[in-house]
Amino acid sequence: MTTARDVDTNAAPRADELRTAMVAALREMGAIQTEPVADVFRTVERHLFAPDAPLEMVYAANSAVVTKRDEAGLAISSLSAAHIQAVMLEQAQIRPGMRVLEVGSGGCNAAYLTKLVGPAGQVTSVDIDPDIVASAKAHLAAAGYDQVNVVLADAENGVPDHAPYDRVIVTAGAWDLPPAWSDQLNGGGQIVVPFRVRGLTRTVAFERDGDHLTSRDYRLCGFVPMQGIGAHTERRVPLDGDEVVLRVDEDKALDVDSLAAALRSPRLELWSGVEFDQVDELDFWIGTHAPVFGLLTAQDGPIECGLVAPSAKRGVPTLVRGGSFAYRTKRPIDGTDTFETGVYAHGPDARAVAEEYVELLRRWDRDHRGRRGAVIEAYPAGTPSTALPQGCVVDKKHTRVVISWPRTQAS
Ligand SMILES: C[S@@+](CC[C@H](N)C(=O)[O-])C[C@H]1O[C@@H](n2cnc3c(N)ncnc32)[C@H](O)[C@@H]1O
Repeated sequence: MTTARDVDTNAAPRADELRTAMVAALREMGAIQTEPVADVFRTVERHLFAPDAPLEMVYAANSAVVTKRDEAGLAISSLSAAHIQAVMLEQAQIRPGMRVLEVGSGGCNAAYLTKLVGPAGQVTSVDIDPDIVASAKAHLAAAGYDQVNVVLADAENGVPDHAPYDRVIVTAGAWDLPPAWSDQLNGGGQIVVPFRVRGLTRTVAFERDGDHLTSRDYRLCGFVPMQGIGAHTERRVPLDGDEVVLRVDEDKALDVDSLAAALRSPRLELWSGVEFDQVDELDFWIGTHAPVFGLLTAQDGPIECGLVAPSAKRGVPTLVRGGSFAYRTKRPIDGTDTFETGVYAHGPDARAVAEEYVELLRRWDRDHRGRRGAVIEAYPAGTPSTALPQGCVVDKKHTRVVISWPRTQAS
């Protein structure tokens, strides 16, 4: 295995070129928005944090470099894609002198943070995996950032020894928000976290607001899963063996046999008249309105034979009602290069669940397309329902999450 110190020195000029191109691409994509963030991507030698990976991969704006897999082959650590690192650093609004806790190490993002906080600031990076802690320390030293406190621990408890923090930046997919993260924040502190709600992950910038956290911004993202005490595995409900599954993130009673039988019954199609775009927001809207919700996910076989629509390839928002379900699909709008959203539904209540879905598509189009989006609030578990704002309530171990969709003027 190559270590950071034996990196081919001829790589440096090529890396400089690739880094310049990466920064241009990140600006073009809107991921980099401010000069301090542009500066860290321009100057930190990203390839020193994944010395075994091809330079082109390390400097591609949108690819993560997997650095460790579990026994089943699932990625459990990576150098995150530059795009999502930039988005999260912008969300975090890091300023010189801040104290930052990074959850999930590797070194590269900690180096970015170190440059952003400057000599008056402090960065602590915690990882649950001793291999990652060792390599992060080695890579940071080789790149000249050995002032970072790299700590081996489960981040469920934060890192009290270096608290309080102005920012907590989480770089593993979190299903919940452990109290330690808010408890270890300064008064005006913020948490930026890839947060999974009903199977849909968004990087959310949370501010403290009295007894709870309120989102300031959120963006689509994907991350390796949180391990340790905070790990939370989705339930995979088989509808056609492993080939078609319904991924469900909450503990809801489901009529699995009827749902599997429904998939084999003829499908009902219903069209909405709503143009198919801004799919991330649309999916979040659907996911935070359905009483019972999952992500229908299919492999190639059932899609190719027409049993399931191609929209299910990566998991498509699905409303469940008893032994019936509906999910979104699309069809071309004649004479244009755009698509119309619609719904495929199966089961004895196919029509009712399809109509419910199409009504949601139309409400989103009428009241929310291109507007401010949702507000995500996290209250401590145990907060009585009467003290929660209106919205979709998702109960987690430590928090009661409320997602609401204020109606605002189009922007
Ligand atoms: C995507 S990687 C971190 C990427 C890194 N921040 C970078 O510079 O690109 C996610 C890391 O989170 C770590 N992790 C997962 N669960 C954790 C936990 N409960 N506490 C601390 N670290 C955890 C994993 O071991 C993994 O190394």
